[in-house]
Amino acid sequence: MILAGVLGDPIAQSKSPRLHGHWLARHGIDGAYVPLHVRPDDLADTLRLLPRLGFAGVNVTIPHKAAALAAATSATDRARRIGAANTLTFTDDGIEADNTDAPGFLANLDAAGDWPTDRPAVVLGAGGAARAVLVALQERGLPAIRLANRTEATAAALADELGRGIATTPLAAPDLADAGLVVNTTSLGMQGQPPLDLDLAPLPSDALVTDIVYAPLETPLLASAKARGLRTVDGLGMLLHQAAPGFRRWFGVEPMVDGALRAAVLA
Ligand code: ATR
Repeated sequence: MILAGVLGDPIAQSKSPRLHGHWLARHGIDGAYVPLHVRPDDLADTLRLLPRLGFAGVNVTIPHKAAALAAATSATDRARRIGAANTLTFTDDGIEADNTDAPGFLANLDAAGDWPTDRPAVVLGAGGAARAVLVALQERGLPAIRLANRTEATAAALADELGRGIATTPLAAPDLADAGLVVNTTSLGMQGQPPLDLDLAPLPSDALVTDIVYAPLETPLLASAKARGLRTVDGLGMLLHQAAPGFRRWFGVEPMVDGALRAAVLA
């Protein structure tokens, strides 16, 4: 029996057990994926113990992503650049850390079809989620990234740190001219939060608008993009796609991200 799980504080809200559970059942794998409520003070002990209990690896979520990277024996360049890990694999040599939010973000966009990768992208928000999105867009080689945040100093510091083609733009009136992609990584538009107030009129008609928030699935931003006839991608797909690399590593099967998985996670 192969074990894996997700560590967080809180953890009850996590959709990952249902997601991996669906794949385990579909592939008839003798394994289990469990939610583990781990407080920050217990993370190091937990990571030492889990491999001895038979765990092949774990996902980590808020608030453990930076500490998980620090605790790892080795890490991908991508995880280092993002400064956070969400996927840990236990090996004979220790803990391998990766960040699959970045490829998950891109895979979610790619699944919707072609999108303009040869034009600037506009990223709203400069928190932890934005870091993965920015690194992903750099990996994809976008010519320019415009970063907007309520606290402009945070955006400026992040642009400085990540370098390579990131410039800041004001959140109140971001430069949307000739942009091919708009990404909301702020918590605005999330259930219980005010909507993001953004005038999409200057955006070219072939631009893609995406939100990494997935509760609700259709945020006010996505609704207004749709109303303008723009293509939209909701945030649930990023959650589904970021899970696949861990599942493959731990359980040895390449899982499918499809409608059945989406339905299982939403059920
Ligand atoms: P996450 O890990 O999801 O990115 P985070 O690191 O707390 O979460 O970042 C939250 C992001 O949402 C930040 O960019 C934050 O802007 P500030 O840096 O100015 O705090 C943004 N955000 C949260 N509430 C906001 C609000 N009411 N208006 C505008 N931006 C907001």
